[in-house]
Amino acid sequence: MSEITSQALFKPVRMGSLELRNRIVMAPLTRMRADNPEHAPTSLHAEYYAQRAAAGLIIAECTEVSAQGYGWADTPGLWSPEQVKGWRGVTEAVHNNGGLIYAQLWHTGAMSHPDFFAGELPLSASNVNPEQESVTPTDRKPTVSPRPMTKAEIQRTIADFGNAARNATEAGFDGVQIQANYLYLIAQFLNSATNKRTDEYGGSTENRARLLFEIVEEVLRHVESGRVGVKIGPMHLTGPYAANADTLPDMNYVFQKLNRYHLAHLLLMGTNTDVTGSPLESLAGDAMYRHFREFYRGHIIANVDMTPERGNRLIYAGLADSIAFGRSFIANPDLVTRFEQNGPLEEVDWPTVYAAGPRGYIDYPTVDAVSLC
Ligand SMILES: Cc1cc2nc3c(=O)[nH]c(=O)nc-3n(C[C@H](O)[C@H](O)[C@H](O)COP(=O)(O)O)c2cc1C
Repeated sequence: MSEITSQALFKPVRMGSLELRNRIVMAPLTRMRADNPEHAPTSLHAEYYAQRAAAGLIIAECTEVSAQGYGWADTPGLWSPEQVKGWRGVTEAVHNNGGLIYAQLWHTGAMSHPDFFAGELPLSASNVNPEQESVTPTDRKPTVSPRPMTKAEIQRTIADFGNAARNATEAGFDGVQIQANYLYLIAQFLNSATNKRTDEYGGSTENRARLLFEIVEEVLRHVESGRVGVKIGPMHLTGPYAANADTLPDMNYVFQKLNRYHLAHLLLMGTNTDVTGSPLESLAGDAMYRHFREFYRGHIIANVDMTPERGNRLIYAGLADSIAFGRSFIANPDLVTRFEQNGPLEEVDWPTVYAAGPRGYIDYPTVDAVSLC
């Protein structure tokens, strides 16, 4: 066995109910190609994902669970029959190439914009403006102060996640990942700076995390635990999303409590901003994975700025079970082969990342094509 193929990254691994043929996971990547009125994936999506099927697992892009949760132009959904049909084309194409694919379930909350709702406010935990940009159908626009969800709307949202999880199974996905980090609805409930509620969904860590756990439990009514993952982790971003004194204790609580569900995985992003002087300073670099390994016993997918060397090191150290690559999968559909051959990586063409059509989406070369040139 060559030194390269004996690397941990290329070894199969069990993730919940699935056997992955390697530990290279394609991270979820929004690409804005669902530019049709149904917000449905097309044959272009099928080709894009099929090209990347050699990954041990693909986590498909952020996919809204409901029209109420919609909030980023030209992203796909998973609430209508047209969307299920579109996704079925994607999952079949990936399976035909021997791959496995999860859906990522998403509610944008306050990151959406009145332009998506005929002038009505988007919904969130509280009326705190996230102070970010919303990607509307016409332009990037400043976010607004959202309307706090009623309890009935919270219950409806939880049910929508369950419905989308059921649709994901119907569409042929091998599992679902709940998007609980970054700037979106679940993170807006978790974050004490964006959640000012005084009912059982606000206040203490336990209360702010309630929405996440109720969503997890609802999704588990439709999909077995070995096919459900969560993307979560502390982040230091801008405005109300700057890490605060609650951020790390909140995450410690959440990671510990997630153990009890025996989920397929947690996708943990390392720090992707400068955390110097922030409450996350001690988690820079590999410290993120060391810290959360103490709290979470299940399969951890480590992500952000990974290389094969770093991924192998984290796996050997027991700090991660698989490794997710995001940007490098955009430009290198055959990333696994390139890693195996220790070959050069193509650079991302950024103007075509969030764009329409095939250019910069399905036309990146493979090493075979490059060597034939
Ligand atoms: C263009 C782009 C789109 C992204 N879309 C998503 C997404 O839909 N869902 C998500 O959870 N993360 C998304 N991310 C974050 C990636 O999944 C990943 O966490 C990030 O790129 C760090 O990994 P990397 O250093 O390997 O690129 C996106 C990142 C990029 C660059």
